[in-house]
Amino acid sequence: PIRKIHARQVLDSRGNPTVEVEVTVGEGVIGINGYTARAMVPSGASTGKFEAVELRDQEKDKYLGLGVEKAVQNVNTKIAEAVLGENALNQMYIDQILQYTDGTDNKGNLGANATLGVSMAVARASAMAMRIPLYQYLGGCHASRLPVPMMNILNGGCHADNTVDLQEFMIMPLGTDCFPEALRMSAEIYQHLKCILRQRNMNTGVGDEGGFAPDVKDSRQVLELIMEAIEKSGYQPGKEIGIAIDAAASELYDEERGVYVFPGESQMTGEEVLRDSGEMIHYYQTLAQDFPVVSLEDGLHEDDWEGWKNLTKALGSHLQLVGDDLFVTNIKRLGCGIRLDAANAILIKVNQIGTVTEALDAVEMAHRAGYRSVISHRSGETEDPFIADLAVATGAGQIKTGAPCRSERNAKYNQLLRIHEHLGGLAIYQNPFS
Ligand code: PGA
Ligand code: ZN
Repeated sequence: PIRKIHARQVLDSRGNPTVEVEVTVGEGVIGINGYTARAMVPSGASTGKFEAVELRDQEKDKYLGLGVEKAVQNVNTKIAEAVLGENALNQMYIDQILQYTDGTDNKGNLGANATLGVSMAVARASAMAMRIPLYQYLGGCHASRLPVPMMNILNGGCHADNTVDLQEFMIMPLGTDCFPEALRMSAEIYQHLKCILRQRNMNTGVGDEGGFAPDVKDSRQVLELIMEAIEKSGYQPGKEIGIAIDAAASELYDEERGVYVFPGESQMTGEEVLRDSGEMIHYYQTLAQDFPVVSLEDGLHEDDWEGWKNLTKALGSHLQLVGDDLFVTNIKRLGCGIRLDAANAILIKVNQIGTVTEALDAVEMAHRAGYRSVISHRSGETEDPFIADLAVATGAGQIKTGAPCRSERNAKYNQLLRIHEHLGGLAIYQNPFS
């Protein structure tokens, strides 16, 4: 059973407060037969409006209002009261208690940052008690598929202060059957991109997810830089390396005018660049014609179901179309998308929904409907590598966890290297699109 639970406020990769939870499980006297596990909660910047609530203290004189002491207190009082003594091995039941104790649809009472920290720490403590790795505890004995990374090597949008309007430009190492090879290929391309930027006197400072964040004229030019880096590394674009884009279009959408605004492109060209839903689809179509784009996330904003349907009709047969802000890891919104044929893949972010079980439910629903899933970090991360294990546990086949730079990103890649080694000859690494 759960013997002890304790939360504290710590800092995330952006230097903002987040919740850390420690859970002790076990029979007998703690310290003799007990296992204590720790988990840390991530936090987004381009958050979808339908995400579960992240409780922030709003005390302006502390951490600019971003403290999480209330969420910490909720863990140490209300949640501790509800789960102490319960069987930690019953993750589904513990997560139900968390949902029930909160009592809202969006974790608005206790905070998804409170419930998620507990949910993750309970899973990890249980794995320890069972003496198996977390990926096996969550995924069973057949969990053996390592995910293809979507590596965000050029950051824009609200993850960087540059002129790049689309939020993420990622490379996907598809042309290998081995995760460490995939990681090496990606890291080489990242280093070559740095050299290319430096040669052109472009900024090589990095954004929130570890990708470079130079001022670039438009998306086409970003893609040209990435193509050059792939070729310079000796890899074949398209064949060995695919490109993925997260437009994070909800951030570009101007509700009043009903159009997508490209502020960076406007600044660089000297005239306001606007695109409506149809023009956005056409824009992606031309980018996908000219570059080896294999995946597009949040190409349109989170309320544009009609647009998403058109996007999927136009591009769904040859592009992975991933709903992030659209689905927010929520089976109600995903169910709606599946009925409407609005996408063909879902991004899974554990803190968008607030418990491990609900995130697993979303993956299961997606896979049953023939959707792909991508396990994802947040732009505000921690050194907790939980999602690396989750990616292998679910067999999702894809993980989005930033550039091979910044230790909160590499914590996940390094954990995947450990899992690869642990699996030995059983490890599978596959192109998700073939
Ligand atoms: P976020 O960005 O964590 O800032 O929301 C990640 C994403 O949009 O995929
Ligand atoms: Zn996204």
